[in-house]
Amino acid sequence: MAEDLTVLGIESSCDDTAAAVVRGTDVLSSIVYGQTALHKDFGGVVPEIAARAHAEKLDHCVEEALARADVGLDQLDGIAVTAGPGLIGGVLSGVMCAKGLSAATGLPLIGVNHLAGHALTPRLTDQVAFPYLMLLVSGGHCQFLIVEAHDRYRRIGGTIDDAPGEAFDKTARILGLPQPGGPSVEKAARHGDPARFQMPRPLLNQQGCDMSFSGLKTAILRARDAVVADAGGLTIQDQADLSAGFQAAVTDLLTEKTRRALNIYLADGPAKKSFAIAGGVAANGPIRTSLQQLCIDHDAAFIAPPLALCTDNAAMIAYAGIAKLSDGDIDDLTLSARPRWPLDDQAAPMLGSGKKGAKA
Ligand code: KG4
Ligand code: ZN
Repeated sequence: MAEDLTVLGIESSCDDTAAAVVRGTDVLSSIVYGQTALHKDFGGVVPEIAARAHAEKLDHCVEEALARADVGLDQLDGIAVTAGPGLIGGVLSGVMCAKGLSAATGLPLIGVNHLAGHALTPRLTDQVAFPYLMLLVSGGHCQFLIVEAHDRYRRIGGTIDDAPGEAFDKTARILGLPQPGGPSVEKAARHGDPARFQMPRPLLNQQGCDMSFSGLKTAILRARDAVVADAGGLTIQDQADLSAGFQAAVTDLLTEKTRRALNIYLADGPAKKSFAIAGGVAANGPIRTSLQQLCIDHDAAFIAPPLALCTDNAAMIAYAGIAKLSDGDIDDLTLSARPRWPLDDQAAPMLGSGKKGAKA
């Protein structure tokens, strides 16, 4: 039974080295070593630096996860690892580490799709019944998924260019606010007037659930340049007003597209109506409140897992591994790392997939 299985999860697909032990739906430990400091001078994640740091840290991370969980290798039922999508060097580091452990212990090896990890988190935290609608909204990805089973997903829309988190980060950079941009733009926007700078709402009135965010950063750049040309620089109030205008546009876009996604999901008549969000942008107060209100209007439950399980972590990988293991769906030492691995291979490929297409 899935609830009795204890699995070690390993995650290294972008800039977080993570290991966790999960038993059933109990997170016994979840360790995340971030790499923000290593990449901060480069304006983005440098794949080679990330891969090297993962290779150096993974062993310690796994040891710490086992120690915190007070679980020995002999008490595990399997080893789950992110096998994609992500930055290939990082994914390879994790896969090699997991293969080594599997070969040494004889434990089953389970290759997990990172996006499945995010998408199944509402079941780990809230035991949400299938099918549910999921909005995955992070620094690298933005997509609507109808989660029908642990291995069956329908992708009904997503960004055609930047992910919202990426747009928040770029906006912060343009406005001279600290990284990561999401929290600092949200903070600045609290004292801002969203009506002072009218921002575009790309694709808002276009049919379907696809979204576009790249035009927003251009609009912010133009608005900033106009203020600087006029006044010689940005005041704190200018930063606040620009942040508020930007955040209002993202909130409107996500809310309207979620309304459409909910209608598609509800048209199938699910027994229990549930909408879940995950990813770093799910931490944003105004976005969260607006989506929550939308769920109230549609009589659907709103599920937002705790932030530590919304952002990249290995507990979600261990949990997705448990779902596969209990189905007997395991890999062997030929498991390969996949930089691209769509959850729904029936869905049309997107034009763009966010921050270098790597992080989810
Ligand atoms: O899920 P995450 O930790 O990493 C991945 O991208 O996988 O998400 C990080 C992203 C960053 O772009 C960050 O700026 C954004 O989430 N973010 C936020 C907030 N907190 C983090 N965006 C908007 N508002 C926030 N409060
Ligand atoms: Zn992710």
